[in-house]
Amino acid sequence: MCGIVGYVGPQDAVPLLVDGLKRLEYRGYDSGGIALHTSEGIVFRKCVGRLTELERDLDARPVTGRPGIGHTRWATHGEPSVRNSHPHLDGSGRIAVVHNGIIENDQELREQLQAQGHTFLSETDTEVIPHLIEQALKDGAASPEAAIAQALKQARGAYALGILFADQPDTVYAARLGSPLIVGLGADAHFIASDVPAIVHHIDQVIYLNDGEMAVLQPDGVRILDLDGQALTPEVKPVDLAPEAAEMAGFETFMLKEIHEQPRVLRGLLEKHTHKKGHVDLTDLGLSADYLQQLRRIMIVSCGTAYHAAMYGKFLLEHVTGLAVETDLGSEFRYRSPRIEQDTLFVAVSQSGETADTLASLRLARERHCRVLSICNAPGSSLVRESDAVLFTEAGPEIGVASTKAYTAQLMAFALLSMAMGRARGEITSEQEQAWIKALEQVPNAIHYMIERADHIRAIADKHHDGPSALYLGRRFNYPTALEGALKNKEISYQHAEGYAAGEMKHGPIALINEYLPVICICTKTTDEVYEKMVSNMREVEARHGRIIAIATDGDTHVQAFAEDIIYVPPMCEEFSPLVNVVALQLLAYYAAQARGTDIDKPRNLAKSVTVE
Ligand code: AGP
Repeated sequence: MCGIVGYVGPQDAVPLLVDGLKRLEYRGYDSGGIALHTSEGIVFRKCVGRLTELERDLDARPVTGRPGIGHTRWATHGEPSVRNSHPHLDGSGRIAVVHNGIIENDQELREQLQAQGHTFLSETDTEVIPHLIEQALKDGAASPEAAIAQALKQARGAYALGILFADQPDTVYAARLGSPLIVGLGADAHFIASDVPAIVHHIDQVIYLNDGEMAVLQPDGVRILDLDGQALTPEVKPVDLAPEAAEMAGFETFMLKEIHEQPRVLRGLLEKHTHKKGHVDLTDLGLSADYLQQLRRIMIVSCGTAYHAAMYGKFLLEHVTGLAVETDLGSEFRYRSPRIEQDTLFVAVSQSGETADTLASLRLARERHCRVLSICNAPGSSLVRESDAVLFTEAGPEIGVASTKAYTAQLMAFALLSMAMGRARGEITSEQEQAWIKALEQVPNAIHYMIERADHIRAIADKHHDGPSALYLGRRFNYPTALEGALKNKEISYQHAEGYAAGEMKHGPIALINEYLPVICICTKTTDEVYEKMVSNMREVEARHGRIIAIATDGDTHVQAFAEDIIYVPPMCEEFSPLVNVVALQLLAYYAAQARGTDIDKPRNLAKSVTVE
């Protein structure tokens, strides 16, 4: 949830650390800090609030030095305060540590260290790490590496660490277990970071550290070793991310940029997997016809927005493959006694590939000998490494905390997967597959038209943003769209919002409807059955004077009779309409948030990558 960065090289570390932290701020943003080697030993600066506060402090109390480490925090143990912000020091002030993750046995370690005479200054779990290292050195550890290893062997939980020693003026140490950490290699400098976009401008090659590995970064090279001190040969990969991908490119926010990127992302994903004309090609996933024939069940697990994508995937996979498909939230699945066996395909969906609950569920599925397929946006992530096969969403870095392009790319991934599996199982014909591919080819343009209607959507958001609450209704494939629209609204505008299956409204939420409540109804013209039922639900809202905002298909004049406002979307078959409809809801939430004056890219209390339970 936090972001860490470290630098070893010839330049002053301060601007490089601050720049890297700003690019990581989406991971956590309630406090931050840096620690540097200077002629006076380790010097640090910390702040509460956004990194602009750190910059202000650095302007008021300038410092230079190298190497250095930095941290942007999303509080887990202890409130956001200067005392609790990283870096944390040992008792002598000669070891500084930044940490992303959670040390689960921190209380026990703290008591053990206190008994040995250590004094703690913060409420964080992290602070035990520099003290454990200090103690290991006192106990005779032969080197800083040995002391770090000794300390980490006592810690339970998850960590990505950056460590500075006052006595090692040209070295940054790093270690990883369960939280993401990369080592970036540049021409004359090396970095550590929580992800590639934070340092992409400075590096040509990257090493994705594995769990249980340590890195020693010095100006003339990087060594990787395990916690027993054995040297390892890492896989060094070229950086294949254009530096511009991590920039705002003239947009006012990352979220708006990412909404606009959707047509390109979806076109790219579709073209990549349909290059054999008229067929979806997912051969790389190793889902052979034999395997698919013996398959009995699909279990899809994920969290948040990715869970809404999973619900869409369930509806589509059931519709197209004839298999039983179940979905669950990562945080629930891992505590159930799920009936999954070898004949179950386990699908994990995650933008970041680091979500703790999704990862824990994946591990449970592996214990039950299920084959694991991930739908993921982050190459090198834990999810990717622990899966049998990965369908990459290829959306590029998503920096806005509210997921947009990663979501529609997940929907596209499910569309492709459903078709490939449906055909391999003989449940759909080649003609049907070709027709669906043709429909999918219309999606990028349809989204483009949606985006062109942004001014109209903004006007609707301006009119409805100030109420306390909003209700989102959809049916069948667009039921997850309603949930996702409500989630987008609440997470960035802070307006309370509920997503509901429209047919379920009369079983409870109908009590909320009055002349003030905006009710966003997804009623695009698809199958008559669903459309007519949706119209009946809207009539029920109208009868109670709810303020209907309809998401309707171009040319549908019927809804004008009862909708106060209408957002028209281009025509699309029901199966793929969620890919287009959700863009209207992303924009509606975006402009509501703008009208309410929130920090859209970094909404309060949220973090992009939820690496704790
Ligand atoms: C999306 O808008 C959310 N911020 C959040 O629900 C997110 O989708 C969830 O935390 C799962 O993340 P993941 O896709 O990286 O696993």
